[in-house]
Amino acid sequence: MTDASRHSGTLIVGGGVIGLSIGWRLLQRGEPVTILERGEAGQEASSAAAGMLSIANEVHYQEDLNLLLRMESMRLYPDFVSELESFAGSSVDYRTEGAIAISLHADDTAELKNLFEYQLERKLPVRWMSGEEVRELEPGVAGFVVAGVMCPMDHQVNNRLLVSTLRAAFLKAGGTLREHCEVSELRMEDGRPPAIVAQGEEWRPARVVLAAGSWSGLIPGLDGWLRPLVRPVKGQILALRMPSPDFLVHMLKTPDVYMAPKSDGRLVIGATVEEVGFNRDFTAGAGYELLKGAWRAMPSVYELPIDEMWCGFRPGSRDNAPLLGETGVEGFYVATGHYRNGIVNTPITAKYMSELILDGNRPELLLKLSPGRFASGA
Ligand code: FAD
Ligand code: GLY
Repeated sequence: MTDASRHSGTLIVGGGVIGLSIGWRLLQRGEPVTILERGEAGQEASSAAAGMLSIANEVHYQEDLNLLLRMESMRLYPDFVSELESFAGSSVDYRTEGAIAISLHADDTAELKNLFEYQLERKLPVRWMSGEEVRELEPGVAGFVVAGVMCPMDHQVNNRLLVSTLRAAFLKAGGTLREHCEVSELRMEDGRPPAIVAQGEEWRPARVVLAAGSWSGLIPGLDGWLRPLVRPVKGQILALRMPSPDFLVHMLKTPDVYMAPKSDGRLVIGATVEEVGFNRDFTAGAGYELLKGAWRAMPSVYELPIDEMWCGFRPGSRDNAPLLGETGVEGFYVATGHYRNGIVNTPITAKYMSELILDGNRPELLLKLSPGRFASGA
């Protein structure tokens, strides 16, 4: 084993949107950063995602912590995107048309109404629409659509462009990115940040951030309360090719699927939510259900060519909110468990983590997301 690096900076394990964005923010403040990435940066969940920045449209009962974090992150998003795009010199296709949740019959209209009332209670700027109003905005939706809820603050990006732009920004700011470099052990040592073992080399950085998505709990050396409680939640998802940009302009959430039109002509339709470990098959059943769900709401998708089908693994935690912050071991931090919202929560994660590491800032919301919150007695 060679002693690769005793550097004063931060080493990040995992180069998805979470690792890249934290790294970029740290570099901007003058902190040296190295990312060790097992494959190629951003090619796991961060590329598999649909790129929706869902606030109202992904409200779930009893998940206020998650909602608060997304709202904080959305406040940062427009400036985050402008700064990132102008620094890296490329676009992430930030779109602000909003999302419409629709109902197709009486049953799901009642469900939509209940959720609408909850959204209003949470002071989200949503608007109830009749089926006709939905069709005026999106003429392609089925004639029998009963009602809709307009969510204007739900924006979107092209997450694959977000990945490539963050990667470019990270490198331009002077970061070191080691791809095809799997971390095989985090070696705990008393009173110091863990030593990192990767490809026969040992790294001894001043600070370590674990941001390995769904794999964060699997790296040897992380035992007991130090092992982040995350699991892979598989999502199968596909893209059709639209004939023109006005085929669908808003994101659409139907009772069965969501649909996100991208400016490159892809119509992304997702996604399954499955607890099947790291199985990477794209199944006939998932393809059938996703296409059927989209076709019920928008019959003209029947004619569209299929562009791509893929799947990814959402890092799910026990309460669906991320694990962010200190671990109790000097210089060892965790940023994982972003589940269905890692793209929307990228700016706030990068801000919270970089300011915690460099300034010791601990805002109340960050403390509530502490990685130790699931430890017994916590
Ligand atoms: P990842 O992108 O998975 O990155 C983790 C990285 O760590 C990987 O590149 C991996 O190779 C690396 N790694 C793992 N182990 C090691 C190791 N031992 N050594 C070195 N590197 C390692 N979120 C939204 O906000 N909006 C959406 O619309 C949305 N849609 C989604 C749709 C689907 C189908 C899926 C699967 C997810 C979706 N998400 C969405 C969730 C979002 O994609 C994730 O929350 C987010 O990408 C997590 O980012 P990450 O960087 O933590 O993980
Ligand atoms: N947020 C969309 C998904 O996880 O499928």
